[in-house]
Amino acid sequence: MSEILKDKDSVKPGSARTPDESYTDYLDQDSKTVPKFMYEESAPYLGSEDISIDRYISKEFFDKEAESMWTRVWQFACRVEDIPNVGDSLVYDILDYSFVIIRTEENKIQGYYNSCLHRARKLKTERSSNSEEIKCPFHGYCWNLDGTLKHTPAAWDFPHVKPEEWNLPQVSTDIWQGFVFINIDDNAMPLLEYLDPVPEHHERWDLGNCKKSIHVSKVVPGNWKIVQEAFMEAFHATEIHPQIMPFQADENARYDVYGDHVNRNIALVGKPSPNCWDTTEQEIFDTIFYGSGRVETEDKIVVPEGEEARKVAAQTMRDAFKVNDGHDYSDKSDTEMLDAIVYNVFPNFSPWGGFPRNLIYRFRPNGNRHDSSIMEAIFLQRNHVDSAKEESYEPIPIHYLNEDECWDDAEELTGIGFIFDQDMANIPELEAGMRASKKGAVTYANYQESRLRHYHQTIDKYIAKGPLKA
Ligand code: FES
Ligand SMILES: [Fe+2]
Repeated sequence: MSEILKDKDSVKPGSARTPDESYTDYLDQDSKTVPKFMYEESAPYLGSEDISIDRYISKEFFDKEAESMWTRVWQFACRVEDIPNVGDSLVYDILDYSFVIIRTEENKIQGYYNSCLHRARKLKTERSSNSEEIKCPFHGYCWNLDGTLKHTPAAWDFPHVKPEEWNLPQVSTDIWQGFVFINIDDNAMPLLEYLDPVPEHHERWDLGNCKKSIHVSKVVPGNWKIVQEAFMEAFHATEIHPQIMPFQADENARYDVYGDHVNRNIALVGKPSPNCWDTTEQEIFDTIFYGSGRVETEDKIVVPEGEEARKVAAQTMRDAFKVNDGHDYSDKSDTEMLDAIVYNVFPNFSPWGGFPRNLIYRFRPNGNRHDSSIMEAIFLQRNHVDSAKEESYEPIPIHYLNEDECWDDAEELTGIGFIFDQDMANIPELEAGMRASKKGAVTYANYQESRLRHYHQTIDKYIAKGPLKA
C-alpha cells in the first residue's frame, strides 16, 4: 500500500485504506510464494451515495428482483456428488420456481421444470430421490430420464397429446468444479464467462476434487440480502465477534470487485485486529486453534520464543491436512492455508478459496418471502490423494435446523456455528431497525462495504432489463 493512499488529505475518493498494516502488506511476510492474483487489488471506487432501505424491506422491490434478476442469473443448485447414480435427482426451489436436477446418464446431468404437463402437479415432492423414470404421482403421466414422454395414462382420452411434443421442459444447466448451476434464462451468457475470474483463481484450489462433507440449512427471519451481507464484510467482527479479534484482521481486510458478478473479501488469520493489539503470539495461536475448533488436538502447541503465531499456525495446517488427505501442502502459502478468502458469485453463492477451509454459503429468499430467507453452510472435503483410500461416498443429507435451534446445535460445524449465531442475533435487529428508520437509507463505508454496493449496482442492472419474457 502506498503511503500516499494512507495520507488522508491527499487521497482520491474511495482510495483510502486502513492506516494499519493491511492484508496486502502482510502478504510480503508470507513464508511461501503467494499467487499473483492474491496480491492484485481490484477495488474501483463505486460511489458513496446512500442506499435506500426500501431495497431491503419493500415487497415491491423484492418482486422486481424476482422477475428481472432471479430469472436471469446462474444459481448454484447442487453438487454433482449429491446425485451420484443415474436416476438420482434433487429438487432445487427458488421463489415460486421448482426444478428437478437429475443424473440422466453416467456423465450427464439435466434440469427440468418440476411441473407436470398434464395438470401441473409437482413431479417430485421429495427433495432427493432415485427413480428409473419421472412419473407424476397424480394420474401417472410418465417421462423417461431424458425427458421424452414414456407413458400417457388413458391415452384414448388424450388424442390431442402428441408424444413427440411432450418432452419435459428443461432449464439450462452447467457444471463448474462439481457445482451444478441452473439458469432460467435460455439466452444467458455462458457459465464460465459469468463466473470470471473465479475459475482462474480457483484452479489451484480445485474444488472439483472435493466432496461435500457437511450441509446445514436454516430459515432466517430477514431479507435475503440482509442475511448475505452479514457475511460480506469483516468490518463488523470487532463488535459482533470480539472473541476472534486476537487472530483476525477485520478493519485491515481486503476487498475486491470484478465485473458485475464476482467480489471477494480476504480476512487475514494469525495477526490481531487493529482494534486489539494487546495480545501475545501464544494467545493468537490459541484463539485460532482452541477457540474456534479448527483443529482438534490434545497436545497443546507452544509457539516457540521469537516465532510468529501465523507462521506456526500455517505450518500446523499444512501438516494436519497432509495427514488427512495425503496432499502435499509444503509449498502452499500461509494465506491459502489460513485466511478467510471469501468469494461471492452474484447473487447468492459464496465458494471460499484456499486449501483447507472449503466452506460454501448459499443465501436465497424463503419461497416468495421478502422478509425471510434460507441460509446454507456447506463444507467440502478434499479427496484423498490415493483414490484407494477414498471410502465409498454416500450423499450427505441436509441438516435442517428448526426455528428453535441455533447453528451451534449443528455439532458438525465444530464451533463455527457459534460465530454464525452471533451474526444471526443481529439479523432481526437489522430488519426491525430498517423498518424503524426515519432516514430511510443506509450509508456504506467506501471500501469495507464496497462489495455490498457492488451487488446493489448489479441488481439495478438486472432490474433495468425488465421482467424476463418467457
Ligand atoms: S397432474 Fe400429472 S398426471 Fe395429472
Ligand atoms: Fe460475522
